[in-house]
Amino acid sequence: MFDLIVRNANLPDGRRRQDIAIADGRIAAVGPALQGTAGQDIDAHGLLVSPPFVDAHFHMDSTLSYGLPRVNESGTLLEGIKLWGELKPQLTQDALIQRALVYCDWAVAKGLLAIRSHVDVCDPRLLAVEALLYVKEKVKPYLDLQLVAFPQDGVLRSAGAMENLRRALDMGVDVVGGIPHFERTMADGAESVRLLCELAAERGLRVDMHCDETDDPLSRHIETLAYHAQRLGLQGRVTGSHLTSMHSMDNYYVSKLIPLMREAGVAAIANPLINITLQGRHDSYPKRRGMTRVPELMAAGIEVAFGHDCVMDPWYGMGSGDMLEVAHMGLHVAQMTSQDAMRRCFAAVTENPARILGLEGYGLEPGCRADLVLLQARDPAEAIRLRATRLAVVRGGRVIARTPAQTAALALPGRPGHVDFMSHAQQASG
Ligand code: FE2
Repeated sequence: MFDLIVRNANLPDGRRRQDIAIADGRIAAVGPALQGTAGQDIDAHGLLVSPPFVDAHFHMDSTLSYGLPRVNESGTLLEGIKLWGELKPQLTQDALIQRALVYCDWAVAKGLLAIRSHVDVCDPRLLAVEALLYVKEKVKPYLDLQLVAFPQDGVLRSAGAMENLRRALDMGVDVVGGIPHFERTMADGAESVRLLCELAAERGLRVDMHCDETDDPLSRHIETLAYHAQRLGLQGRVTGSHLTSMHSMDNYYVSKLIPLMREAGVAAIANPLINITLQGRHDSYPKRRGMTRVPELMAAGIEVAFGHDCVMDPWYGMGSGDMLEVAHMGLHVAQMTSQDAMRRCFAAVTENPARILGLEGYGLEPGCRADLVLLQARDPAEAIRLRATRLAVVRGGRVIARTPAQTAALALPGRPGHVDFMSHAQQASG
């Protein structure tokens, strides 16, 4: 007797018509036509069931603050940072918590059940840190929130930032952040990487730095990050986020850099929605895309995820917590259009970020946590194409969100009465 059986599910790895049996919050068995009964049955009818979406790069302290106190007119990263600086003194803990909780509701509805959020530690009140630690506990039953101590104004450039960062870690923030390209000089940037990696090594923590989020091809802090990850034995625990300068770097230099990243076990997070809008703002034409070299990093065996980064905040006025929208943009910007590349784009918002976060029990194998999403699509590529409806979201074996299937009623002579956008694929896959 199981708690729940999801029947006739297509899985992201290509297995078709599988049953997933769940007991005591874990996946008990996966296979075709499983025997046994359950308290609840869901028939997937050959639709895709995936482990939940994971966002490896987000800013929950600024989310849903769009327009406060004004809108980013230039659309640049630097105006966004300035605007956030104007908003910070006006932030209240209560408003911050309310906005974060609303965003978590959106996330759950979209099947996004794990988020790594940076939290700015440059305000000595650490008000955002306290607020997000509260939110982390509050949402724990339905969403895993991992926090990064992020010195937005530069850990060396901003007075007291290192001390504040240490305090944030003492309070329970999980990961050490940084922003070397925002320090005053390249040398200070490199020094910040050294100090922060040593701090993480001392405390046994992971590192995730905003790194080289610039169009300047000479912004090479990722090299320093890989060097210290290697030197301090932090392989598999260090991530470079954004890495947009790599888009503009000299190809010969990149041919040396990528193997060094691989050797140092450094992961990469690209944020396609944000960097396609923020980068290249100083270009006339042609305008650079400004996203890091995702297919090349993946081909080298480096762990790569796509992050959402921002939703309705000083840097970005769009977004709804939909990681399929993120993957859709990543696929286009990186020109990852082969069938295999499209599957890798799906992995970049599911299993890859799960490994970067170090999530326990993630996946669809027996023994994994019974967290999954039923999508109105038959395979990962179709899920991305349609930004597929999340028909059901399951956490710990319990359905925590449902969305009605998308369909449109038609009134056309001699044509069907409704259209579901999947019918062609249905025919193609038999
Ligand atoms: Fe970011």
